[in-house]
Amino acid sequence: MVRPKSKKPLSAVTHVRLTQEERQEIEQVASSKGFSSISEYIRFLHRSTLEAEGRRPVPAKKAYSPTSLFHETRFGRMRLGDSLSLLHRELRPNSVDLIMTSPPFGLVRKKSYGNEDAHNYCDWFRPFAEGFKRVLKDSGSLVIDIGGAWNPGAPTRSLYHFELLIMLCKEYGFHLCLEHFWWNPAKLPTPAEWVNIRRVRVKDAVNCVWWLSKTPWPRANNRRVLAPYSDSMHDLLKNGYKAKLRPSGHDISEKFGKNNGGSVPPNLLAIAHTESNGRYQEHCRNNDLPIHPARFPSALPEYFVRMLTDRGDSVVDPFGGSCVTGEVCEALRRRWVCCELSEDYLKGALGRFADLEVSRRNTIAEPYKIFPPCSVPVDESVVGVIADGGLKRPTKEAAIENLDLNNSSTGPFDSMTLPF
Ligand SMILES: C[S@@+](CC[C@H](N)C(=O)[O-])C[C@H]1O[C@@H](n2cnc3c(N)ncnc32)[C@H](O)[C@@H]1O
Repeated sequence: MVRPKSKKPLSAVTHVRLTQEERQEIEQVASSKGFSSISEYIRFLHRSTLEAEGRRPVPAKKAYSPTSLFHETRFGRMRLGDSLSLLHRELRPNSVDLIMTSPPFGLVRKKSYGNEDAHNYCDWFRPFAEGFKRVLKDSGSLVIDIGGAWNPGAPTRSLYHFELLIMLCKEYGFHLCLEHFWWNPAKLPTPAEWVNIRRVRVKDAVNCVWWLSKTPWPRANNRRVLAPYSDSMHDLLKNGYKAKLRPSGHDISEKFGKNNGGSVPPNLLAIAHTESNGRYQEHCRNNDLPIHPARFPSALPEYFVRMLTDRGDSVVDPFGGSCVTGEVCEALRRRWVCCELSEDYLKGALGRFADLEVSRRNTIAEPYKIFPPCSVPVDESVVGVIADGGLKRPTKEAAIENLDLNNSSTGPFDSMTLPF
């Protein structure tokens, strides 16, 4: 996220006396904020000071082309166009209870819906962050579902989504209420190169979901999103609980045995993303429209909409895609706006609203099962760690047969010298 250098001639030189530590610190902060030099950083600080004191006009906001109304339902609206216009011009300041969204991810390879390169991501996001701050009520929440990305050519991860989180909190003053993780049990093991062929990484099956707010006290109620009690908790509720001090030191009181209608769920949201034959897809296929490649499952916005808003509250999805947020809000009677750049995606989204009798889950879903780590015994004398960290690609045969890559003269136990 290197910012462009000034184009005017920079001929004046001045000396600033600093300690080594001060200089290092300023350089570090400047570089972490994307400035290419201390001079650029000082110029920026100076400009901001003048603007804050009203001695220099704040640069006029870009003139965003207005969005247009694409479709209206009983509770919501689909808007076609750039959501920056919605956020900076069309929505009233402090008017939105929840922004529930999934922006284009900073994937390294560009996808058909236009992902931003991971390095430029924060810069690209800044005007949206300003807009979010403008339209959100003090009591409101901002929820961002964002997937991770791999660095090109290496089994290492981009930090872009963490950089985004830090930027939103440090530069724009958002508070991190609680990070959530959407675990997709149906996720395929990718990238195959690191997971299946070189076997040096496990599959990445979670998206980060940043739940942020303008103040530390956004409206919320976890009673709206309870999970069913486990069998052992049901037993306990039936047979009673004897208050005692646990080995961990926790003093569990009699109140623990009270039936609260369900247990408070963890911040791991287990939602398999498997739907391929719903009415949305059918509508797209019948009308020769693209099926959105990066939809989130409706259970994801449903969880946050239920926990953070009441009926009649306003919810905005500025990266609307196929309008999953809109569909959920329509069913839950929240007022909503979904804004999307692509007309084709909105045409496809119409399939969600053709029959306004939106069906909602009302049965208790089966829980997913996840094993504790290391549940399969492994003979470590046969399966060693891959000595070069996957740098060298295994031969085709080795990859296909999934052979033990360390079963050679360079195996880990052949010339073992202990480092201690
Ligand atoms: C990850 S997708 C969202 C998918 C959506 N949550 C769903 O379930 O269908 C991001 C979407 O943001 C849209 N988009 C990107 N920049 C935008 C902008 N400035 N204004 C409106 N939409 C934008 C892209 O076209 C893409 O469809």
